[in-house]
Amino acid sequence: MKLPLLSRLFEDVPDNPFYQPRLARWLPAVNATGNGLSAIFLTAGYLFIQRKKSDCASQNRPLDLAALDVCLCHRGHHLPSAPPDFSTAIGSSLLFRGLVLLRQIGENQPMSAVANVFIHASQFPEAVRRDLLESLRTRKVNHKFHYDSVRQTQKWLALHQACSPSRNDTDCQAVYERGFEAAAARVKAKRVHLIGLGCGGGQKDSRLLKLLRDSGKEVSYTPCDVSTAMVLTARRTVLTVVPEKNCFPLVCDLATADDLPEVLEKVGSARRADRTPRRGVPTNPARLVTFFGMIPNFEPQTILPRLASLIQAQDSLLFSANLAPGPDFAAGVRRILPQYDNPLTRDWLMTFLLDLGVEQTDGELRFVIEDDPAGNDLKRVAASFHFNRRRRVEIESEAFEFRRGESVRVFFSYRYTPGRVRQLLGKSGLAVQAEWITKSEEEGVFLCRRKQRRNCSKSSLGGASVPASRD
Ligand SMILES: C[S@@+](CC[C@H](N)C(=O)[O-])C[C@H]1O[C@@H](n2cnc3c(N)ncnc32)[C@H](O)[C@@H]1O
Repeated sequence: MKLPLLSRLFEDVPDNPFYQPRLARWLPAVNATGNGLSAIFLTAGYLFIQRKKSDCASQNRPLDLAALDVCLCHRGHHLPSAPPDFSTAIGSSLLFRGLVLLRQIGENQPMSAVANVFIHASQFPEAVRRDLLESLRTRKVNHKFHYDSVRQTQKWLALHQACSPSRNDTDCQAVYERGFEAAAARVKAKRVHLIGLGCGGGQKDSRLLKLLRDSGKEVSYTPCDVSTAMVLTARRTVLTVVPEKNCFPLVCDLATADDLPEVLEKVGSARRADRTPRRGVPTNPARLVTFFGMIPNFEPQTILPRLASLIQAQDSLLFSANLAPGPDFAAGVRRILPQYDNPLTRDWLMTFLLDLGVEQTDGELRFVIEDDPAGNDLKRVAASFHFNRRRRVEIESEAFEFRRGESVRVFFSYRYTPGRVRQLLGKSGLAVQAEWITKSEEEGVFLCRRKQRRNCSKSSLGGASVPASRD
């Protein structure tokens, strides 16, 4: 599709010994940089040609200016530094230099120096303060405080990079890839909007978006996370795939934002507003929601109804869960304990307490396996800091005393089995339609829909494994 259009541009370029060899040299680079840059290049080329037709006689200098003006006003805000002043010295090599500049601002280059980020009230300072005080009062740390600061985010990203099977295990990556392909194959609309709930660094969402884009879809993305640093990291990750104008980062607390369905509608509507509906052509993009690596750190009875309330009838949900491997659930949870009880995880989890003024020598962090207190027939790995001496922590005017022998739960991570995932999602009105489980049986990806009155069959998803029956 791109090549014939580029060829037309070449045909129209004057038989000029300066431009022809240079453009020919740039053709492979332009093709390699993908649709976005090619589109800009073509726009520039089109205008270049238009001007050429009227101004060709005047040494081609006005043409240089027109082509570069168009290219640079479209991409100018993406430039790593200020664009040159074209009002002076339009040299004969300007087009060439402009093309160099265009290539530099293609994929993997820094984007705008500013980002528009929506911040939901659930993450306004007063709400964060309330939740922090609640965590200290109840001695149960809300997981969101492990992703709060830039330092914590960096530590988690490093931990994730070092330990996560999704980054290190090719089989796990293949499992996600199969889930992405099945979800992408379902999208019939030309445009698709991906909502990444708890997006983290955005690596998984980025792979899914790339797949969608490469299959010819126009993609837009809402990276949604409690951490501003994560949302910005995810935004940066996907900007190689999603145009900046189609990216709507949203900071919010999924556990407390009651109006999230409306907020997500509003955030996405900025994109829809620029479309005039044509008869028979749907203008609304298809919606795909991801919820990767999130379920372990929430009580299922709290988060699943919230998640279900965000999934509309036509949406697809891709959901991943950490699983206990093997036929014996308890033994499976014991097997994965070392994935938590290790120096990198300890360092990341302790950051929260150390930042409050607790010292390492005030006690020790212990990991245990416990039954789900809500009685969901699940088990979880929990980590608590046990004080071996008194410690006082002050947050503005509030003081918290931790006595010797007291403990603070800093973390938990639930483990599921495929059957338990299906059962709990089902209770919340979400039906698993296909699932992919890693060979290690430690992670699974589930493609879900909102339950319809008459549930549709699972068989239409070619290649997807049928639900496992081991539990
Ligand atoms: C284990 S990471 C998963 C990240 C990513 N989805 C992935 O699979 O790589 C959990 C993510 O959830 C976010 N998070 C934690 N609590 C949250 C909350 N209450 N609301 C929204 N996001 C939350 C964290 O900031 C973090 O990015």
